[in-house]
Amino acid sequence: MPFIDRDFINDLSDRVDIVGLINKRVPLKKAGKDYKACCPFHEEKTPSFTVVPNKQIFHCFGCGESGGAIDFIKKFDHLDFVEAVETVASESGISVVYDQNVKPVNTRFKRYNELMSEVNDYYQTQLKSSVAKARAVDYAKKRGISGAIAKRFELGYAPPGWSNLHEHNKADNEKLIDLDTLGMLVAKKDKEGDYYDRFRDRLMFPIHNAKGNVIGFGGRVLSDKDNPKYLNSPETPLFSKSKELYGLHHCRKYSRKIDYILVVEGYMDVIALHQHGITTAVATLGTATTPAHLQTLSRATDTIVFCFDGDKAGRAAAWKALQISLPAMTAGLMIKFLLLPDGEDPDTLIQGESVKVFSQRIDKALTLSTFLFDHIKSDVPFETIEGKTLFLEQASALINLVTYSVYRQQLVEGLAQVVDQDVSYVEKMINQSETSAPPIQGVQEMHEAPPNFDEPPMIEMLYDRPATKKAPDNGMKGLMSKMISCVLNYPVLADDTVELRVRHLPKSNVLLELIHSAQIDEEISQKALIKPFEPKPRVYSRLQQLCVMEPSLSENEARDEFLSALTLAEKQHQRSLTSASISTANSSADEKRIMEEIQHRKTPKSS
Ligand code: GTP
Ligand code: MN
Repeated sequence: MPFIDRDFINDLSDRVDIVGLINKRVPLKKAGKDYKACCPFHEEKTPSFTVVPNKQIFHCFGCGESGGAIDFIKKFDHLDFVEAVETVASESGISVVYDQNVKPVNTRFKRYNELMSEVNDYYQTQLKSSVAKARAVDYAKKRGISGAIAKRFELGYAPPGWSNLHEHNKADNEKLIDLDTLGMLVAKKDKEGDYYDRFRDRLMFPIHNAKGNVIGFGGRVLSDKDNPKYLNSPETPLFSKSKELYGLHHCRKYSRKIDYILVVEGYMDVIALHQHGITTAVATLGTATTPAHLQTLSRATDTIVFCFDGDKAGRAAAWKALQISLPAMTAGLMIKFLLLPDGEDPDTLIQGESVKVFSQRIDKALTLSTFLFDHIKSDVPFETIEGKTLFLEQASALINLVTYSVYRQQLVEGLAQVVDQDVSYVEKMINQSETSAPPIQGVQEMHEAPPNFDEPPMIEMLYDRPATKKAPDNGMKGLMSKMISCVLNYPVLADDTVELRVRHLPKSNVLLELIHSAQIDEEISQKALIKPFEPKPRVYSRLQQLCVMEPSLSENEARDEFLSALTLAEKQHQRSLTSASISTANSSADEKRIMEEIQHRKTPKSS
């Protein structure tokens, strides 16, 4: 069934002649300003059915039936709503405006795919024939992209100027609306029905889905002075960056065998690798790896090699990938980590060293367990008792994320070896950690934007008591409101694991209460969620603000946001606990006692 544009329906009644429409079906007689007839909807001898043209309504004083033109036609002609609208419009010589966004699924997606393919052709043509093409071509050459590879990846050029793609499609209003929906044009705020090009003066990388359809674009500036360096399509009905991987289509198409898939950070990395014969590479689209990405990858190969820059951000991204990998481990799946030298990416490396040397790097990638243990070790003072304790806690919490029992057992044994303890002791430790849910630590700083969408002091109100003067939990407030906003918008994010973790955070009462309500009813409305806080006006008003998600995220993005905020909050909390215990420790006596405890644990058990 087609969907009719809501504004069209609202306006329709004002544009039709209700008297003419009804008169065709029920002969009307003028009575003053109004018209009268015997009611068609009930039996009567004297006319009590009235049509009021200046209000565009009918009303029967006998049976109470009333409404506008559409209601009359619906009832009199026995039509459904859409049919009635179409009838009213057609008898009034008006053509119906259908809502482009809710047309039947099949034709809509078919249209979108065709249109994206046309846009892709357009940009490719511009790279060949635009008057401004020279800069783009020179840039591609400077980056070492061969003609053949540019063709393979269908690289294109969005020429400079605000209205190239727009002008090209201007003749067809439906296309303009679709191009807006698909993120290629942006609707002007001040001028209804007018648009400008989203991508301007950029080298264009079409993004294909697994079927090979173009679903979005990435565009790179030609000069490093401009920004943002890359502009990606926004989330659209075709494109969701938390699900898609750049290059997967090309990996499938150009690889005879997929022994492994290298997950790299950028478009240019995938392209350079292809050019040097490594065709099994994909890139996330400027986001962290998500569980959806992992699922797609594990269907395509049995070895996933995450390849990140060796800098701080790269290590943080790798660590995040590790955290989402643990629950995804299954029989036959191998996940490895390749950290490149600081300042290098696959693009620069493969252009500077032989494929053989680069392949050796891939061969030497760290196994998940090695990366797991090495990474935590590097973040704690492992040689101290406190450091070892932290190490054990963090490793245990992570191992607890593994559901594949064979692998979990191997990790337990590996951990026992690293800390030089009995396997049974480590097992006990891990089981304990399962029930008391110690924090999962993001060991390195995450490279996401700092939480900034709340302004103190409003957020203080979300806490049981005002923050102390020392305010050791600065970032915690931002994290807390980020999590609250996510739950208010996606109550489905709340589950018992989350609840258990949140319970260990300081001052988490409000969030915890929301999680409770959300767990009871995941379809709960925002209004119902925040209702219990009504008696506390300041908390209530802050929660009302947090109901609006800024920027607005999809459910998957919100889940990522929520979990990374939670992980960061746990880390922050752990840090403050550690520093508190260090500052209060009466060290030598305490240390001696802990040493004795550890010694005691290590004495061989009678077997
Ligand atoms: P080159 O300088 O072209 O080699 O870039 P790169 O491939 O080395 O990219 P970089 O490591 O800077 O970024 C990796 C990926 O992150 C890119 O391919 C993009 O998908 C994404 N990215 C980078 N910069 C931006 C940006 O400014 N905005 C957005 N949305 N994404 C970006
Ligand atoms: Mn690069």
